[in-house]
Amino acid sequence: MTIVVEKLHDKFAARIRGVDLTKPLPVDVRKDIQAALDRYAVLVFPGAPLTEDQQADFAENFGQLERSNIIMKVKARIGGRLADISNIDENEQLFGEYDRRRMFSLGNQLWHTDSSFKKIPAKYSMLHAHVVTPEGGETQVVDTRVAYETLPQKMKDRIDGLVAEHSIFTSRAKLGFTDFTDEERASLPPVARPLVRSHKESGRKALYLASHISHICDMNVPDGKMLVRELLEHATQKEFIYELKWRVGDLMIWDNRCTLHRGRPYDDTLHRRDLRRATLEDLEYAAAEEAA
Ligand code: OGA
Ligand code: MN
Repeated sequence: MTIVVEKLHDKFAARIRGVDLTKPLPVDVRKDIQAALDRYAVLVFPGAPLTEDQQADFAENFGQLERSNIIMKVKARIGGRLADISNIDENEQLFGEYDRRRMFSLGNQLWHTDSSFKKIPAKYSMLHAHVVTPEGGETQVVDTRVAYETLPQKMKDRIDGLVAEHSIFTSRAKLGFTDFTDEERASLPPVARPLVRSHKESGRKALYLASHISHICDMNVPDGKMLVRELLEHATQKEFIYELKWRVGDLMIWDNRCTLHRGRPYDDTLHRRDLRRATLEDLEYAAAEEAA
C-alpha cells in the first residue's frame, strides 16, 4: 500500500489519502507518513470518526503520548489518553459563558505551539473531529521554517542565540484570565527555550514562537515583547496560513517544533464542537536540555 500525498498550500501542509487509521499501521506506511510529516509539517487525513483507543494507538506509532495535560482538575468526559478539545462538560452540556474551562480554552485562539511551556514539550499533536460547528471553529496553521527562511538577514542575525521564557499563565493573562490557584501555578513553572531551533529531520531552521512567551531572557521586557510580536506577525501573515474547515472524521497532525496554530472563533455557547487531541512528547528535546 502506498499513500497519496496532495499539497494543500504552496509552502507546507498536505492531505493524505489511502490510510486506514483504525488498523495497525504497516511499517512502510508509517515511514511514508513520517517522511510526509518531515517535509510538510502539517498533514490532514480525511476519514471516519475514530474511537479514543484507535486515535491513541495510531498516535503511538510516532512516539510517546503526553500524560494527560491536566491544569484544571475536572471530572473527565473522555479517557486519559487524549486531551478534550471540546466545549462540552462531563454531563454532555455546553460550557456556560463563565465556565472557567471555557475561558481557559479561549487561549487556544491565540497563535501557539502546544506545550512549549512544559518541561517536556510536545513533538506532534493529532487533532480529530467528532462534532463540528456549522460556522467558524476552523484551525489555522503556519510553518515556522518558512517564517524563519523569509526573515531579512538582519533579523536572523539579531535573533540568533536568543532565548524566550514560556508559561501557560502568560497566554491566559493575555486574555485577562488569571484565575489560577497557587497550586496550579506551582505545577507549571516557566521554561526558557531558544527562539530559533533546528528541525532535525528536514535540516531547516524554525522559529519557536508562541503566545506563551512572556519575554526574551537578558533583554529589557518591552523590547523583547516587541520583538516577539514582530516575529509572530511575520510568521502568521495571510499568505503563510493554511486553514482547515473541519469535517467530521478529519484528523490533522502538526509538528509543534516547527509550526504555530490557533483555533478560530465560533458560537460556542450555542453549538457543540467536539475535537480530541493525541499529543506526543518531545523526549529527545527534553533530554538534550537536561544534558546541557
Ligand atoms: C489544540 C488547539 C485549536 C482548535 O488542540 O491544541 O490549539 O482549533 N486547538 O481547537
Ligand atoms: Mn494547541
